Amino acid sequence: MSKRTIVSMPGDGIGKPVLDEALRVLEAAGFEANYVEGDIGWEFWRKEGNPLPQRTLDLLAEHKIGLFGAITSKPKDDAFNELAPELQAKGLVYSSPIVGLRQHFNLDICLRPCHTYVGNPLNFIRRGADGGVEEPQVDVAIFRQNTEGLYGGVEWSNPPKQVHDALMTHPKFVKNFGSTPVEEISISTRIFTKKATERILRAAFEHARKYGYKSVTVCEKPNVIRETSGMMYKMAQQMQKADFPEIELWNTNIDAQMMWLTKNPENYGVIVAGNMFGDIVSDGFAGLIGGLGFACSAQYNPESGIGVFEPTHGSAPKYANYPVSIVNPIAMIESACMMLDFIDEQEIAKKIRKAVAEVVSEGKVRTYDMAKMSGRADVVEKGAASTSQMADAIIAKL
Ligand code: NAI
Ligand code: MG
Repeated sequence: MSKRTIVSMPGDGIGKPVLDEALRVLEAAGFEANYVEGDIGWEFWRKEGNPLPQRTLDLLAEHKIGLFGAITSKPKDDAFNELAPELQAKGLVYSSPIVGLRQHFNLDICLRPCHTYVGNPLNFIRRGADGGVEEPQVDVAIFRQNTEGLYGGVEWSNPPKQVHDALMTHPKFVKNFGSTPVEEISISTRIFTKKATERILRAAFEHARKYGYKSVTVCEKPNVIRETSGMMYKMAQQMQKADFPEIELWNTNIDAQMMWLTKNPENYGVIVAGNMFGDIVSDGFAGLIGGLGFACSAQYNPESGIGVFEPTHGSAPKYANYPVSIVNPIAMIESACMMLDFIDEQEIAKKIRKAVAEVVSEGKVRTYDMAKMSGRADVVEKGAASTSQMADAIIAKL
């Protein structure tokens, strides 16, 4: 069989060192692939006025699988000022290339798993009934709808007349906002479609079945946000009844869930939510298992088979220019394992996860976050592992 080609997109800042280390780990684990580098990020915004050049989209369309590090996004004025002078008169507007990737390829399924590594000093602990310390084992898979809802980008300040007129047909708008001058109104819409809601729910239930989770929890707010959250929960009830009767369907409200997740996080299995609540609840769970150095993600389209795998952290610019990279590569390495699962290389993924688990539980090699240091350039002198020393330790276990 010919070797698979993977599009590697380091992006900005710490995206490059963590991706380099993940590729080393993949190779050491016996995964054979060709890599082509995809241009993405701030550098391409500055030089070309486009942080997501068409050639990168073409590469992904051709090879389907991407590993992505992180990008830097900056506010509007900075984006303009850093643009090459000859591009500044062109009226270009910066928009996040990762959001662009999601929308271009309709990567509507986002999976963010959070599981506890035994021995991780960053694990969440709580007090038990006898006053002793308990360390719950978290193992959740969060499915976040990745293209719609509050991040769908349909929003206005001072909305146009047709929009305002349409809103004035709703009795609650008339009552609560009808007398507010239109130029004092900002609106961000929360649109859910049946098609995308069905897809994210089905992905969640299928994952529960495939990996033996006993429950799927819809984490929304259907008692208040009755149309969108309500639709998602109702569709989940129908789907569970028709197609997944062996899996329990639970329903939590996002606010209560954020409280409960420190109370009984081990009780949850698969969680599914819309775009924003999925973002919130996945960060909440990630905090229980070590935070940004451990939080991995996949975004994919089950129809086209296009998938992009990335840590949830950003480019951490303050650490980007250290002579030796100090950040934790585990989130990126775990994201690479999610890629392996996606392309049916589960055995290699298993091997890598086992190696990571051994390094974490031994506790001899710890990046600065695991050593609870503040992230200064001298942490390696003080005993923390660098990014590549952590990868070396994982490779040694392979
Ligand atoms: P960030 O995730 O880059 O960093 C926040 C802090 O988390 C860092 O200062 C560091 O203390 C810690 N951290 C992050 N990754 C770590 C790792 N692998 N190991 C250890 N510690 C780690 O978020 P921030 O500072 O809010 O944003 C920086 C830039 O990244 C911004 O330009 C932002 O727009 C962008 N960003 C990009 C994302 C992406 O590419 N998907 C996601 C989030 C932010
Ligand atoms: Mg987030």
